[in-house]
Amino acid sequence: ADLNSFIENMPKAELHLHIEGSLEPELMFALARRNGVDIPFKSIEEVRDAYQFSNLQDFLDIYYQGMSVLITEQDFYDLTFAYLTKVHEQNVIHTEIFFDPQGHTDRGIPFADVINGITRALEDGRKKYGITTRLIMCFLRHLTEEAAFSTLDQALSYRDRIVGVGLDSSELGHPPAKFARVFDKAKSAGFLAVAHAGEEGPPEYVYESLDLLKIDRLDHGNRSLEDADLVNRLVKEQMALTVCPLSNFKLAGVKDMRDHPIRKMLELGLKATVNSDDPAYFGGYVNENYKAITESLDLTKAQIMTLARNGFEASFCSPAEKQAMI
Ligand code: HPA
Ligand code: ZN
Repeated sequence: ADLNSFIENMPKAELHLHIEGSLEPELMFALARRNGVDIPFKSIEEVRDAYQFSNLQDFLDIYYQGMSVLITEQDFYDLTFAYLTKVHEQNVIHTEIFFDPQGHTDRGIPFADVINGITRALEDGRKKYGITTRLIMCFLRHLTEEAAFSTLDQALSYRDRIVGVGLDSSELGHPPAKFARVFDKAKSAGFLAVAHAGEEGPPEYVYESLDLLKIDRLDHGNRSLEDADLVNRLVKEQMALTVCPLSNFKLAGVKDMRDHPIRKMLELGLKATVNSDDPAYFGGYVNENYKAITESLDLTKAQIMTLARNGFEASFCSPAEKQAMI
């Protein structure tokens, strides 16, 4: 209980958050009504009951269905501002947010409406809450390289609002190598790079993310632990891992929270951070993630502080901004 209030009061950064995954069932219903979109649920309880996943794809099917209620610029504003309000209450002072433009442009929503709604909320969050943010655009890896190139082209007009590119969606069967040329172009345009790797995919996908995508940060990375050479390299390069404990549990990568690898990661010298991934779907925001691992892994206050400090150090803030936050 003592550590719980320590966690709640501690200033934190979040580095792995899909804004579409912060769509709470209440807002989903409100937007469905506002936009006249049909959703296959009669009540909030029915929605929550549907959130039982046995793997990543199970979740993604529901996640893409959920985002179908997001239509207008205002919808993206409301979604983003609701997330910022929630994490501000949790003492998150900096957050780096993923968005999946292809999940929207493929439904006929203009890229401009998506990014304008999100960034207008980020600006208001900064003014109202003092929260600082970065925006990272993810490519959906189950789609083609050509589709990713066309998405990157659209992002070039918003280069000043997007700090980096990422890679998400169905990992198995879609190795990072598929997007090596897209990332090469993105990096040349000045974007930083991150990629989901080693969530369900093998260590080889982590190697490809490092060597071919030239990532600046690794999303998940759990399966790196299967390869001692890879662990040594990640430690040596001080590559940060954005770990998402409740996500790993809900998607069944980790069967019991007591088996979660994050304490092992710290003990190995890996720069692990704590994040919520898709909080509306996985049962918790950042604080709930910290509390779950603290309780199930019996973490010490020092370990909790290391995780929080890693979050600031691994952020894409300037050295001066980091200095002010730590
Ligand atoms: N993994 C891959 N793709 C995703 C996730 C995730 O955890 N969340 C939203 N898109
Ligand atoms: Zn993710």
